[in-house]
Amino acid sequence: MSETADITETGSTIETGTLHQQGGDMTEQTTRAPQTVVRSRRPRGDNEEAYLEVNDLHVHFPTADGLVKAVQGLSYSLPLGRTLAIVGESGSGKSVSSMAVMGLHDRKSTRMSGSIKIGGRELIGMSDEGLRAVRGSEAAMIFQDPQSSLHPFFTVGDQIMESYRAHHKVSKRAAKERAIDMLNRVGIPNPKRRVEQYPHEFSGGMRQRAMIAMALVNDPKLLIADEPTTALDVTVQAQILDLIADLQRDFGSAVVFITHDLGVVAEIADDIMVMYAGNAVEHGPVEKILGTPLHPYTWGLLESIPAVSGTQGPLHPIPGTPPSLLAVPSGCVFHPRCEFRERVPDDLCRTLKPELVSRTADLGRSSRCHLRNPDQVFETDVLPRL
Ligand SMILES: Nc1ncnc2c1ncn2[C@@H]1O[C@H](COP(=O)(O)OP(=O)(O)OP(=O)(O)O)[C@@H](O)[C@H]1O
Ligand code: SF4
Ligand SMILES: [Mg+2]
Repeated sequence: MSETADITETGSTIETGTLHQQGGDMTEQTTRAPQTVVRSRRPRGDNEEAYLEVNDLHVHFPTADGLVKAVQGLSYSLPLGRTLAIVGESGSGKSVSSMAVMGLHDRKSTRMSGSIKIGGRELIGMSDEGLRAVRGSEAAMIFQDPQSSLHPFFTVGDQIMESYRAHHKVSKRAAKERAIDMLNRVGIPNPKRRVEQYPHEFSGGMRQRAMIAMALVNDPKLLIADEPTTALDVTVQAQILDLIADLQRDFGSAVVFITHDLGVVAEIADDIMVMYAGNAVEHGPVEKILGTPLHPYTWGLLESIPAVSGTQGPLHPIPGTPPSLLAVPSGCVFHPRCEFRERVPDDLCRTLKPELVSRTADLGRSSRCHLRNPDQVFETDVLPRL
């Protein structure tokens, strides 16, 4: 059975209800998790080959104040054709880990270890030339800040053409035709005129589309979109999400989508990875993570967002703030803020870092927590508050 195909069909909701109401073990309660899933998902295969494989990735920055441990032992994989959403509070390492995947950290000021493989090729330790070849042709990124990836002194067309010509031996004319085609594909009206214009002549939404055109001009098999819609109004946001889903379908790409917005996650993702203080704390299929999450931090995230619709109680922001990455807490990184740590015996939460443990009975699902009975705690303590 497809993970969610029984819930929805592409573009139209065929059954409404909370994500908790869609499964056998789910209750009648309303949750803050977005109510409907609007994109049908590819069934999860048992033996899907990973296109992106991140294994025990550490990214540390030596600074005058000490070592910033921005990413600490991150592991995940993603096959072609699937979308992974990375969520977590500001500073949890979403952008730093993704920039590592793109080989964008400065070697001199960054300490990196572990393994990052794209299409089976190891990126850690690869030459700058090798990384440049991977970037753009096999992997591309839409950056959090649209200004940072469009140069103000060059026309939008020139920038898309340059990106294309860096990986294809084609004439300027052919590259320009490709740029016009890409602008057209991302829904920019009058692309023949627009291709000659500078970024400041584009609106915010158009610049975002131009960035997406540039990211996709070489048909990357891996697209990383870092909060690509945060600054946009909801209409443009919806168009961009549709666009990424369309382009993913056309190119069969693997997509990593970073966002704070769980409504967007429910729409676009197949899987979610929840990050906290440089660690993955929970990972699994979107409907499981939003419907019956296992980790107290994920519970906190769900309690702190407004319900998209339906009844809702008061919001409960997660108490406290994320830790300084200069002094990461001992044991479970979330323990200083976790209201459930007393449920674990022997002060284990403070003294022993939990592993990210896969659930054998739950394909692709894992959580990093010492609680023995998270399903029960969620049901009795958390669900009534959502
Ligand atoms: N070059 C750097 N030197 C030192 N610290 C850095 C550097 N780059 C990032 N950091 C730190 O690494 C941590 C993780 O940053 P990152 O940008 O990945 O967060 P994020 O999860 O993307 O947050 P946001 O949601 O705000 O974008 C932050 O504490 C940040 O200050
Ligand atoms: S390991 Fe302990 S502190 Fe960490 S999330 Fe689980 S219960 Fe909370
Ligand atoms: Mg970021």
